[in-house]
Amino acid sequence: MFFHLYPYSLEVGCVSKYEFVKEQIKERLQTGQIRPGGRLPSIREISRQFACSRNTAIRAYADLEREHLIYAVPKSGYYAVLRSSQPDDDQTGWIDFAAASPDPAVMPYKDFQHCLNRAIELYQDQLFSYADPQGFFSLRRALEKHLAGAQVFAAPEQISVVSGAQQALYLLASMPFPNGKSAVLVEQPTYHGMLHALDLLGVTAIGITRSAEGIDLDELERHFRNNHIKFFYTVPRYHNPLGTSYTQAQKKQIARLAAKYDVYLVEDDYLADMETGRKADPIFTYDDSAHTVYIKSFSKIMLPGLRLAAVVLPKAMVEAFRLWKAACDSSTAILSQAALEIYLTCGMYERHAAFVRERYQARMHALREACGRYLPQEIRIDVPDGGIFTRLLLPGQIDSDELAASLRQQQVLVRPVHRCFLRTHPKENGLRISIIRTDEKQVERGMQLLGETVDRFRSQKRPVQTGRAVEWI
Ligand SMILES: Cc1ncc(COP(=O)(O)O)c(C=O)c1O
Repeated sequence: MFFHLYPYSLEVGCVSKYEFVKEQIKERLQTGQIRPGGRLPSIREISRQFACSRNTAIRAYADLEREHLIYAVPKSGYYAVLRSSQPDDDQTGWIDFAAASPDPAVMPYKDFQHCLNRAIELYQDQLFSYADPQGFFSLRRALEKHLAGAQVFAAPEQISVVSGAQQALYLLASMPFPNGKSAVLVEQPTYHGMLHALDLLGVTAIGITRSAEGIDLDELERHFRNNHIKFFYTVPRYHNPLGTSYTQAQKKQIARLAAKYDVYLVEDDYLADMETGRKADPIFTYDDSAHTVYIKSFSKIMLPGLRLAAVVLPKAMVEAFRLWKAACDSSTAILSQAALEIYLTCGMYERHAAFVRERYQARMHALREACGRYLPQEIRIDVPDGGIFTRLLLPGQIDSDELAASLRQQQVLVRPVHRCFLRTHPKENGLRISIIRTDEKQVERGMQLLGETVDRFRSQKRPVQTGRAVEWI
């Protein structure tokens, strides 16, 4: 690796020499001139290259070490920690309407880093041994307060911390419930991760159609009365993939029917913090009979890799859930839990949630406008005020897989919704559109391309299909 020798006469403006040296090295790290794990020039080499004193070089390296960009190995030298900022897989130019994980540009890495450091200082060795399967107590206490802000009132004894909402769904689908029943009722369409879990576990799953308007409550009652339903899995708010929410009246009715027929509700509130309405309480708040398991994920608002979610359980289920959780992974990593506690209690979470909500709301607004401008009338779409998803329904002659494949060739990623249905349930011909990894410009361009592609498909005489050309995984 070669480095330029910087002449003495170098213009450093008003920054001090050591700051200049630091910034130069940082740039080499960020541009990949010094690769992750690569060795940095020695102190002597730096003072020669930048014509500075050894103390200046040492100070610059000490700062970079404090910023966790480099680390020192005694008697060997300094090495790079930072990943190159070049993406491994160059996605430049792509418009991603398929993603469900947060936009890296809005992830609170820096704030969370402070929380991790503070957690280690505060709790030290406690964070690195086996822990309570139910979760770190001081986090559960912080969650009690946090959840109360969303009208979910529960004592720490009823709260469990899990490794993501997905784990909660898997455990709930596996464990026995106090009603002794066995089948699971799911909305159709629904979150495909739940369908996958039910399928792998061999659980009997029954579907009930959910449209933009909600579900047929008489049909729900028939299922609750006639089938052996252990729980009804529902995503009341900003549904995945529909994007729509139940009204408060619908939520009340669902809670009432659950109590009447001794059916549990598993309420997946994965986008609780995205709520834009002032009075949109979860079903949990209408439940007077302790039949609701409430799940709140922390993935969509912050860092999904932390794998953190909270589950509020009816008292009668706490012990069984603890057993199932312990058998699964002993406990969720306490380091993440303790850092989340600090993130919540110092107010960073609320601030970040407000920032993210606003960003995503602006994208949804752009989506609504762009749909009106570019999509033909035959496409049915209801873009909600908030959240991250919407679903569009295609005219019968357009195959969602073929449309998705054609868009992919134009660097636009979308997801057909048929994967959100049970194998036995009639499927819709539509696409799920997510704005989570886009910006307003991409939304505009993406909808324009979608509209043009649909028009092209409609004007072409479609060949008779002999089988599926494209398989989506
Ligand atoms: C509706 C729904 N529930 C749960 C999950 C999983 O969330 P977590 O990352 O907390 O496991 C997702 C992820 O996309 C989701 O869309």
